[in-house]
Amino acid sequence: MSINIRSKDDLNKMRIAGKLAAQVLEMIEAFVEPGVSTEHLDMICFDYITKTQKAIPACLGYRGFPKTICTSINQVVCHGIPSEKKILKSGDIINIDVTVIKDGWHGDTSKMFIVGKAQNHATRIVNISKDCLYKAIEIVRPGVKLGDLGHVIQTYAESKHYSIVRDYCGHGIGMQFHEEPQILHYGIPNTGLALEEGMTFTIEPMINGGKPGTKLKRDGWTVETIDGRLSAQWEHTIAVTADGCEVFTARTDESF
Ligand code: MF3
Ligand code: CO
Ligand code: CO
Repeated sequence: MSINIRSKDDLNKMRIAGKLAAQVLEMIEAFVEPGVSTEHLDMICFDYITKTQKAIPACLGYRGFPKTICTSINQVVCHGIPSEKKILKSGDIINIDVTVIKDGWHGDTSKMFIVGKAQNHATRIVNISKDCLYKAIEIVRPGVKLGDLGHVIQTYAESKHYSIVRDYCGHGIGMQFHEEPQILHYGIPNTGLALEEGMTFTIEPMINGGKPGTKLKRDGWTVETIDGRLSAQWEHTIAVTADGCEVFTARTDESF
């Protein structure tokens, strides 16, 4: 087993897949409002990816996952399954996670949405989890170690009295959805694999309001906090460049 280093050509294809994934999140924003079901959001994303983008929804059928997107509301950490029975209400926070395949290459990204008007503690975990991702992205460059990335995320989250989910992590990505290396969102500085130009992976910290523990629901997919407190997550697909990184899944409201 080894870690793939991408060619210029590979990176060009991942750039396209990443942009498409980002555009799904931009497109769906207008539909995320009180009263909508997560099934409806899923249907809109499926149509957009398959018909408009002429791309493939990577989650659909992946290890048996039944839908196009993951919709993870409030205490759901990740992998929530869209359903007609899940109707968004004002004050909810929801992560929508989209992965598309274009020309054989994957783009994987997620962001939090606030439904209607959120309470301050919900807005706070949404913003701080985003900052966790951004702080990790900021330090990516050749020679930096995976433990450094984890450490930056962990230190910032814990300084705000949040905890880091340890049961799930980021991942190498390319022609495979999930490949080596694992990207842990906690860690010890100057430990682990050193980054090299041409590596492509996701960073996707899951930050809990309470304790880090998670439990898998009976549906075999939905992951929730054990203590029932809120969880929030943001994800980008990136490539290590000669002097930093490129964020393939950047949205137009982001500048890296
Ligand atoms: N997109 C998720 C990730 O960030 C994986 C979802 S797998 C699925 O890695 F099967 F639940 F879709
Ligand atoms: Co991912
Ligand atoms: Co994802």
